[in-house]
Amino acid sequence: MEFSSFGKSFSSDAGIVQLMDDLGNALSVDKSMLMLGGGNPGQIPEVQARFRERMGAILDDGDQFERLIGDYDPPQGESRFVAALAGLMRREFGWPLTARNIAVTNGSQSASFMLFNMLAGHGEAGEARRILLPLTPEYIGYADQGVMTGMFTAKRPTIEHLDDHLFKYHVDFDNLDIGEDVSAICVSRPTNPTGNVLTDGEITKLMALSRAHGVPLILDNAYGTPFPHIIFSDATPVWDENVILCMSLSKLGLPGVRTGIVIANEEIIRGLTGINAIVNLTTGGFGAALTVDMIESGEIISVSNDVIRPYYLEKANQAVDWIRRDFGGCEFAIHRPEGAIFLWLWFPGLPVTSAELYQRLKKRGVLIIPGHHFFPGLAGDWEHKHECIRLTYSQSPEVVEKGIAIIADEVKRAYDGR
Ligand SMILES: Cc1ncc(COP(=O)(O)O)c(C=O)c1O
Repeated sequence: MEFSSFGKSFSSDAGIVQLMDDLGNALSVDKSMLMLGGGNPGQIPEVQARFRERMGAILDDGDQFERLIGDYDPPQGESRFVAALAGLMRREFGWPLTARNIAVTNGSQSASFMLFNMLAGHGEAGEARRILLPLTPEYIGYADQGVMTGMFTAKRPTIEHLDDHLFKYHVDFDNLDIGEDVSAICVSRPTNPTGNVLTDGEITKLMALSRAHGVPLILDNAYGTPFPHIIFSDATPVWDENVILCMSLSKLGLPGVRTGIVIANEEIIRGLTGINAIVNLTTGGFGAALTVDMIESGEIISVSNDVIRPYYLEKANQAVDWIRRDFGGCEFAIHRPEGAIFLWLWFPGLPVTSAELYQRLKKRGVLIIPGHHFFPGLAGDWEHKHECIRLTYSQSPEVVEKGIAIIADEVKRAYDGR
């Protein structure tokens, strides 16, 4: 049997699949592994209790449960949920949205797959059309999503050095040439893996540039506002007819229900709905059913602001304190944590690659993700890629503190040439 080129590039040879297997295997072999590698959101009892209560109400309410499991929703998503979302965004931000501007997908991961391949790939004359990532490091999950190889083209950032071992990436607008082959621009804000939040100024410029080039701007808002609002800096939410805003229920604490949301102009939504019908028939309805009341009442915003955001902010601050304590006396910098659930550490001049560091840490029972995976589409090599790691602080404080101490020890050994 021989796989097609699609089959080959989308089967387990892909780097991210191997890495995820590696993380999964390491965990199943040794349950005591300190998991600072994955992207799972934390388990917040107060939020979980709210969803449990809602599930109970569904079970108790006439035939609601039977309809939930027994009916296909329309391919654009469950109608009451879509209308409720449009209403929430209109009320909150004044965006002129109707239900025709919203599509629901099986997770935001599948939304980006459908969007990327709808907008980029081979054009009618066979020409290559690409997605521009104007700032890498960027989300690892985009890396292998192009059906056309070489779908991504990406740029290095500029680096702003800040006090207290902090730094921040910015879009390098001076070197941001948008070629004829670019058919969409994409950024995650807050960014996975760095916790960066592109400034309002950067977003305004990207919106203007994408409009000037007649291509949409995809804003991946999986951690952003109004929910789950894991965002610690000031950032104005934006949408217009040229912006494709991708959202998710995952980081609200519902990664298992696989619900993504796309807000875009009607043409994009029609295209996406068509692809969703072909690939999935429709979208699973559990996420919509569990959250629709909270969206209609606005409670989803208060839960995000009052429970979810403070939960992660406290964890981020605590993890940064541990890092400053344990890495004292060695070269290190932390990307300023402005949102999402990760810390991005940079070890300038590290004598070993981050891939080697990953292996050494795995042997010592700590899982992180080495930095070089987060530069999809970036041409050429760049030593910075091999000097960074991503760790998540969403696990229990004991796991995070222990993990950080071991990482610090291993990094010091590497600097000392041991
Ligand atoms: C930036 C970003 N976008 C999208 C996703 C995909 O989320 P989901 O498919 O669970 O909605 C993730 C998941 O970690 C993410 O970090």
